[in-house]
Parts: sequence; C-alpha cells; structure tokens
Amino acid sequence: MSIIDPNNIPPHILHRNLLSAIAPRPIAFASTIDGMGKANLSPFSCFNVFGVNPSTLIFSPSRSGRTNELKDTYLNVKEVPEVVINIVTYSMVEQMNLASTEFPRGVNEFFKSGFTPIPSEKVKPFRVKESPVQIECKVRQVIETGTGAGSANLIICEVLLIHVNDNVLDKTGMIDSQKLDLVGRLGSDYYVRASGRALFTLEKPGSKNAIGVDSLPEDIRMSNVLTGNDLGRLGSLQSAPTAHETEKFKGSPVFRTITTKHVGNIDKITEEAHKLAHAMISVNEIKQALVLLMAASSMHVRD
Ligand SMILES: Cc1cc2nc3c(=O)[nH]c(=O)nc-3n(C[C@H](O)[C@H](O)[C@H](O)COP(=O)(O)O)c2cc1C
Repeated sequence: MSIIDPNNIPPHILHRNLLSAIAPRPIAFASTIDGMGKANLSPFSCFNVFGVNPSTLIFSPSRSGRTNELKDTYLNVKEVPEVVINIVTYSMVEQMNLASTEFPRGVNEFFKSGFTPIPSEKVKPFRVKESPVQIECKVRQVIETGTGAGSANLIICEVLLIHVNDNVLDKTGMIDSQKLDLVGRLGSDYYVRASGRALFTLEKPGSKNAIGVDSLPEDIRMSNVLTGNDLGRLGSLQSAPTAHETEKFKGSPVFRTITTKHVGNIDKITEEAHKLAHAMISVNEIKQALVLLMAASSMHVRD
C-alpha cells in the first residue's frame, strides 16, 4: 500500500487523489443571484444530503486551488442567502459542463449554457427548467474552512420546496432512479451514468439478525474460492444451518459425488465444495450454499 500524508504532498496532487477516491459524487447545479438580482448557475460535486429534520443539503464552492479566488456562487449566497439546487441528468451534461466555465462575475450562465431559467416559488434564484428535480433552499449557515487556496466554503441549506417532473416518478409517486438517469462526478474528467445496467440493488439489512462472517469456520472465511461478496451474503443469513441439516446433507447425491471423486483428499473436496457454493450464491441459493460449505468444513475438522 502507498501512503499519502496530506502534510507532505502538493495540494493539487492531494486534491486529485481525494476526488478520485471519494466518488462518484452527486452534482448540485446551484442557481443563485447577487444583490443586484443577476443570475448565476454553476455545478458543484462537493455536495450531499445530510438529514431531513430539517432537510439539510450542503455543497461547497471552494476557493480556487490555482488563484485562491472566491467563486461567484459563494459571493452570491453571502449577498442573497438563497439557492436552487437542480439535479443533473445525463441529458444535461454538456451544457452543465459549459456552465462551469470560469466566466467573469456577473455573467449569466443560464444564457451561456442555454438552460431555461424559470421563477421559483419561495426564493429569488431561478430554477433550471430542464432539470427534473429542482430544490428551492434557504441558506442557513456558511462555514469557511480556511483562507488558503482550495479551502472549502460549506453552504448549509435548508430545503423549502422540491419540484419533481412527473416523468421521473414511479407508479407509487416516488422518484424512480432508472427514470432519473443521474450522473455522478469522479476524479479527473470521469463521470458515471447512473441508470440501466450500471444500477444494482442490495436489500437493506435493517434490524434483521445476521450471523456475521465471524461465525463462519476459518476454512470458509479464508477460502481462496469464495469472494468477499460471497462471505457478505453468507454472513447476512439470519441463522446458521443446524448440525442435523449439515449431517443430512452429507448423504445427498451432490455431496457424495464430490467426496467420492476426491476420496481422502480434503483439500480437493473443500475446493470443489467452495466452487459449487460460489455458483449457488450467484443464483441466490445462499442457505443451501452454507449447508454445503458446513458439510465440507466438518470433514476438515475431523481430519
Ligand atoms: C461536475 C462539476 C463539479 C464541480 N464541483 C465543484 C465543487 O464541488 N467545488 C468547486 O469549488 N468547484 C466545482 N466545480 C467547478 C465550478 O463549477 C467552477 O469553478 C465554476 O466556474 C464556479 O462558478 P461560479 O464562480 O459562477 O460560482 C465543478 C465543476 C464541474 C463541471
């Protein structure tokens, strides 16, 4: 493993590494106005949601890493503490990228990027018509983390109103991730498109019991065949097979085939059992896979 010590590395290299590692990040397309009412629109991927009571979003227009200049978005929220955070979808990426150009203060990026400004209901900054989710916010607090180049300015926002295009809702009226087609920012010039086959689901464990990886015998935990994801799924089972289930499985044709093929060779039996268990886990036969693994493991112990 290489070690990066933030105190011993030029800030731009640290920045590049951190942004590559902490990714993908959602993008806040922040619409603000200055004290004269001039509109501004810029993307910020140092952004996330932090709670719902009150609903709290935070993004950071940081000081420029090159020039230490403050961004117009930061200056605007200090003058008018309101912002509309518009969500960025794949169909918006080129115009969004254009809007991130470092135009002089006062330039309206709605016009430069070709997005359509529409009035908000509770705040003065405009919404982006083309964005399917537009979030009107008031700025509760701004925290400057430093005064040097690249230091963050945390804009802590409270959500006042959320506008959602019906096209991105599912049958129950909830936002559908597949329909939304979001993009995320990674390091360098990389982005990720969050829809189609890029999406997968994982059921939340919640308060259900889980046996845990630590309850599995060592030969299963240290397997050269089973992956970390396999162990995660085995450890998520709510209960382990009983000794009776394991013993009974040893008489099954599938287990007998393995033991007869490699009679006396416990390593081979283990390897084959683990390969079969890996295949079973991939088709969701988790409990059966653990019965097989425990049966093979019990032979290990005996030898
Ligand atoms: C996808 C994307 C994400 C960005 N994220 C950030 C960010 O989190 N913080 C930041 O200071 N600049 C970020 N930038 C750069 C700003 O958008 C850029 O500096 C912009 O010119 C700032 O505009 P403003 O001065 O009008 O506020 C990002 C640019 C892009 C394209």
